[in-house]
Amino acid sequence: MARLAGWVDGKIKLSRLGFAVTLCVPEMRKVNIGLVGCGTVGSGVVKGLARNGALMGSRLGVRFSLGGVAVRNPRKARAARLSRGQVTSDWESLVRDPKIDVVMELMGGTTTARKVVAEALKLGKPVITANKALISAHGESIFRLVEKNGGNLYYEASVAGGIPIIKSLREGLSGNRIQRLYGILNGTCNYILTQMEAEGRDFEDVLADAQQMGYAEAEPSLDVDGFDAQHKTGILASLAHGFWVKPSQIFVEGIRHITPLDIQFARRLGYCIKLLGIVKKLGGKVQIAVHPALVPETHVLANVSDVFNAILVRGDIVGDTLHYGQGAGADATASAVLSDLADAALDLKNGSMGRVPPFVPHEQDGAVLPMDKAVSPFYLRLSVIDRPGTLAKIAAILGEMKIGICSVTQPEGHVGESVPLILMLHDASDLVMRQALRKIARLSAIKAKPTMIRVETFE
Ligand code: NAP
Ligand code: HSE
Repeated sequence: MARLAGWVDGKIKLSRLGFAVTLCVPEMRKVNIGLVGCGTVGSGVVKGLARNGALMGSRLGVRFSLGGVAVRNPRKARAARLSRGQVTSDWESLVRDPKIDVVMELMGGTTTARKVVAEALKLGKPVITANKALISAHGESIFRLVEKNGGNLYYEASVAGGIPIIKSLREGLSGNRIQRLYGILNGTCNYILTQMEAEGRDFEDVLADAQQMGYAEAEPSLDVDGFDAQHKTGILASLAHGFWVKPSQIFVEGIRHITPLDIQFARRLGYCIKLLGIVKKLGGKVQIAVHPALVPETHVLANVSDVFNAILVRGDIVGDTLHYGQGAGADATASAVLSDLADAALDLKNGSMGRVPPFVPHEQDGAVLPMDKAVSPFYLRLSVIDRPGTLAKIAAILGEMKIGICSVTQPEGHVGESVPLILMLHDASDLVMRQALRKIARLSAIKAKPTMIRVETFE
């Protein structure tokens, strides 16, 4: 019998009629996965595949198979069930195995991970990664490897956990010029800030919780010092503005200096504190920064709590769009990896590997606005000696620097050598504000390092 290429025989027994017919059905393309790294995210992916792999396969017309798993220590107990024969410590053999169609790099770090990704791409294999540190720092050279060797790179899981924000920017919003992007992009920091406010818990104690739940990076300073959000903001800014933004071009400040006192005072003033990734198109330049910010409590981002992330994207045609979901953890991140797997599988099945390239530079003159020139209102908390004339000296410095005072609060009930003094200040440039702060910090009445937090108005 003549048969079409790629089709196989299937028998269907029509029991009531008592005879069988032979039909031609399309042969399922097998997609064999090589997984490098099986910790929080990798285990989430293995479990997700066990749960929904067949459903995904039938939606896409392919059949998934886990061809092998490389880890550092094959004897370690894992959250996901793996057979002994599937696990190895030799990632190179796994990646090079001709039976492996797709490589998932879920190990983290930028040294070995870079080698894993490069090796797979040189072999022309599609690579899926959740590694924002790697993509942010080495994106350009990795994309060149994709172009040269004809594979593809998928990195949806690198930003905002389960939220399909990369697909949204690259495809869904591609008819827009992106004017503003504000993101709560680090689940660990958002969880810490939320718990500090809601439960009055201590910073270190909440961080330990976030680590235990698999939200934090292996090196948690990446989270709390803002670098993880810096990597993610850089990736989103690059996709939005068409030139690759390196981490070194992005101003970063983490949340270590935020105290329960700041969270309380911000609330009394009608704000809550969030670590924001901010991307603003201002004239011909793009302002890109990551720092804690006072967000008006009526703003939608103020209500994004715990491990949830959200990104507000403002396009010139669509207006404001909000993208919300869990930003970290095994399952949320696995969902994004599986979505990349679906794209890779369809590309393999249809032989259309470059259908959506990882990054297309389209802005030759892209430039980042220096942070010195960023303008915003400010919150300032000073620890001062409670004596006449102190406020006058502070106001004199601010006046000299042409920074307007919006309100002053010296809450009652604070006793001791020094008391808090909270000033809300009108718009000033970052440079001028920092110069004023240096002068204020030198006053003899100032008893501790001033805390300055920028206020985001979302204009
Ligand atoms: P993890 O729990 O620390 O897991 C890392 C895995 O990589 C472990 O299985 C480890 O093996 C393996 N590994 C390390 N070095 C290796 C080597 N030289 N060869 C083979 N395997 C090696 O990390 P994770 O939280 O899953 O994060 C993985 C990646 O996803 C990182 O890039 C991270 O930034 C990113 N990410 C994480 C989350 C999250 O919520 N956790 C969310 C989004 C993105 P052993 O198990 O034997 O030690
Ligand atoms: N450590 C990261 C976070 C994981 O807390 O957001 C998700 O990228």
